[in-house]
Amino acid sequence: MHDIDKLISEMTLEEKAGLCSGADFWHTKKIDRLGIPDVMVSDGPHGLRKQDIDTVDPNQSIEAVCFPAACATACSFDRELMQSMGETLGEECRAEDVSVLLGPAVNIKRSPLCGRNFEYISEDPYLAGELSAAYINGVQSKNVGTSIKHFAANSQETRRMTCSSDMDERTLREIYFPAFETAVKKAQPWTVMCSYNLINGEYSSENDNLLNKVLRDEWGFKGYVMSDWGAVNDRVKGLAAGLDLEMPSSGGLNDAKIVEAVKNGTLDERILDTAVKRILEQVYRYRDVKGGEHTFDRGIDHKKAAEIAKECMVLLKNDGALPLPSGGAKIAFIGAFAKNPRIQGGGSSHINTRNISNALESAAKYAEISYAEGYEREANDTNPALLEEAVQLAADSDVAVIFAGLPDSFESEGYDRKHMRMPDCQNELIDEICKVQENVIVVLHNGSPVEMPWNDKVSAVLEVYLSGEATGEATADILFGKANPCGKLAETIPMKLSDTPCYLTFPGDRHAEYNEGVFVGYRYYDKKEMAVRYPFGHGLSYTTFEYSDIKLSDTTIDDNDILTVNAVITNTGNCAGKETVQLYVADKSGFAVRPEKELKDFIKVELQPGESKTVTFRLDKRAFSYYHEELGDWYAPNGKYDIMIASSSRDIRLTAEVTHKTSVKLPFVATENTVFGEFMDYAEGKATLDLLFSKVAKGLLGGDHFEPEAVRSMIGSMPLRQIRSFGGISDELLQQAVDMLNKDFGGSKAQM
Ligand code: BGC
Repeated sequence: MHDIDKLISEMTLEEKAGLCSGADFWHTKKIDRLGIPDVMVSDGPHGLRKQDIDTVDPNQSIEAVCFPAACATACSFDRELMQSMGETLGEECRAEDVSVLLGPAVNIKRSPLCGRNFEYISEDPYLAGELSAAYINGVQSKNVGTSIKHFAANSQETRRMTCSSDMDERTLREIYFPAFETAVKKAQPWTVMCSYNLINGEYSSENDNLLNKVLRDEWGFKGYVMSDWGAVNDRVKGLAAGLDLEMPSSGGLNDAKIVEAVKNGTLDERILDTAVKRILEQVYRYRDVKGGEHTFDRGIDHKKAAEIAKECMVLLKNDGALPLPSGGAKIAFIGAFAKNPRIQGGGSSHINTRNISNALESAAKYAEISYAEGYEREANDTNPALLEEAVQLAADSDVAVIFAGLPDSFESEGYDRKHMRMPDCQNELIDEICKVQENVIVVLHNGSPVEMPWNDKVSAVLEVYLSGEATGEATADILFGKANPCGKLAETIPMKLSDTPCYLTFPGDRHAEYNEGVFVGYRYYDKKEMAVRYPFGHGLSYTTFEYSDIKLSDTTIDDNDILTVNAVITNTGNCAGKETVQLYVADKSGFAVRPEKELKDFIKVELQPGESKTVTFRLDKRAFSYYHEELGDWYAPNGKYDIMIASSSRDIRLTAEVTHKTSVKLPFVATENTVFGEFMDYAEGKATLDLLFSKVAKGLLGGDHFEPEAVRSMIGSMPLRQIRSFGGISDELLQQAVDMLNKDFGGSKAQM
């Protein structure tokens, strides 16, 4: 063990300031004089992008294994799978001497247009939190750190370095924070990477509330915060706000500013010492564990990538065309992606791999397959010769499998998409083939949803997302039924772009107005009762599942109770399969405007034909709560809630009701502007207040034309001061009423 405090006491001011920024693009600094070693960090998240030491180009990386990107792995809904992928990556990092893997990336998919959605997990914060915590636990079990990113609210690429994500506290807490919160509480990542953007006008990299208060004081984060690459605005302010490490190197410029600030008294040296300590703790945590032999066998990890990919693919539609027959039928694979698939997205997560399998070659072992290119892989416009050849082949075959999706240039880190369409040539190809062939199967390679105008015309759709270098064998196995699809959508596929929740405000320019608030993804489509192409949580299997016997441990619960929910799932089909059972909670109290339902847990079960298993969920107060801004905490209103056990967000199989009773009192301070509705029930029978009511009622009505309930409603929304106009009450009596309320309630009151 190293005595870090002692080391810090021996460091010069310049050495300490220097340690708070990188030595270069990927390393922390070492200090030979004191024997302090450096460590390397590398991207992440779905493979190792370690700079090749034989090159000076920081973006030239060693050859590594490209696992499925998060858009795909999210669809596994499988914590164990994420953990095990993390373990493999951790092992690779150890073998390559990388101390921190820069991931997972958990920003919420606010719009399908975000260029980086392929790297992010979900539109749902619960899912993003659970899966990222599992991934982190996996990587870190190998004594390699992670850097969960980008904290926070980095949901667009347009002007990502200068745009402010503007939203209310409730939206931040309910949608944009929880993935980070869960990861910190369940997995303690060694590091957190702050985002480029501002939040409500304050850069994340110098946001005291974000980094010191919420992340550390509230959630208990113990590691260090590093900047996204070049995210530092004001270095000294950032250090005080809790940004420990600037990446990459600022060439000494910002280090000098830190030294100057300590010297002129604007920065307390203890703040610098704390940052240095946090960084050194993680440096030694990595360096102090030698950990024996670590291997990085690309062949073995490629197989692992194939196994993972199979667990992620989502069968969106199947009229019976899948699985494909292994013999006899004339099968055509059409589309450039069949031979040259798109396996990952562009930008900092891009893995240098050459070992890419394709479905055409991988499927050869199952059947004889003919092929036509159909379209140019990177083009938008139709190549008439390729189209004609493909249509001819489709007409001459028994089934046409069209490999389609988005070309590389359509989505990448650094910019957002402008529309949700696939290239024109691909849509046209599908349309034309549907005219000559009844059995059309579409296999999609994309990092984010696309519009599917041809959906109703085709027999089956398999969404493979960007599923890494082993996509070929995984796709072939699913198509031919050697593996049973079990992925579920981690995001909604809307009908069209103009349906999306932030259509009017995405992307922001200097300010991104998150006006849709908490209504992101299915929370929005459900509330608006909109038709979607495929709902969140949807995914078919080659077998079928029946849900039965929902049981709750209680019919009434309070803030401290844990509600246990059981349900039985049975495989009613002919082959083994896995089903992700989803639990949603719906607040029926009507107390606050809330989503129709929200995902609060999920369990993936594997079942043999005929087999049944009981799944058990445990829900605490948080599962029923929303973030109450005035209370500054989570609040579960009094009232009834539905517990829904579902196969997707739009396929609720079982429902049971529970009543929640809270003992939490909400802040209440009466003034002249407090509305009657806030204390009406309480007021009944109290002489002073009754008098006020009747005066107002009289003044307001001047007669008896209104129903008593209508009067109650009208008065309910009036402030106490209205008594002056309608009731002719003196200021003195009004003040007495205000005082009485404050005395009786003492600053807070139970929900009525
Ligand atoms: C990205 C990060 C990445 C970093 C280092 C930045 O541009 O936003 O996600 O980890 O570069 O490559």
